[in-house]
Amino acid sequence: MAVRKILKMGNPFLLQVAQPVTAFDTPALHQLVADMFDTMADADGAGLAAPQIGVGLRVVIFGVEANPRYPDVEPVPTTVLVNPVVEILDPTPEEDWEGCLSVPGLRGLVPRPRRIRYRGFDHHGRPIAREADGFHARVVLHECDHLDGILYPMRIRDMRQFGFESEMAGEEEQQVQAGEEALTPPR
Ligand code: NI
Repeated sequence: MAVRKILKMGNPFLLQVAQPVTAFDTPALHQLVADMFDTMADADGAGLAAPQIGVGLRVVIFGVEANPRYPDVEPVPTTVLVNPVVEILDPTPEEDWEGCLSVPGLRGLVPRPRRIRYRGFDHHGRPIAREADGFHARVVLHECDHLDGILYPMRIRDMRQFGFESEMAGEEEQQVQAGEEALTPPR
């Protein structure tokens, strides 16, 4: 288990399409998932995709625990999702703030479909199939975008709603709801 270096926007590896995992329940896949959880915890993140640590495989992890101090942050089940397939159930765009461990310090308002169904496998090869909306759907869509070389700034419609978190004073409540990979406690 190890905390791995997180690649940042501008690194061409983040723009590549990741490859499907072909063998489940292997030592290499368990090691990758363990490293991803270590890296995500170290960065205080809510999600991470394998390409962000330089591994071009279709593996994402995410999870947000309920925290009574931040009642507006919806809990998301801690999940390992391999070879995900996402289906849009309600394409109505919903905008909310996102951040990304590969785009440190910045925040942007990103439209995402309101409701999705996602399928895939965990690292043992057990199937996963869920429906999600709101923050849960947003986290899944954000992480799965990384597998196709898409970073959230590419989806921002109004670039005036993109900037450094430290400069966006007075929007603390929004930012708490909004954090994707880097949930930011109120200051
Ligand atoms: Ni991200």
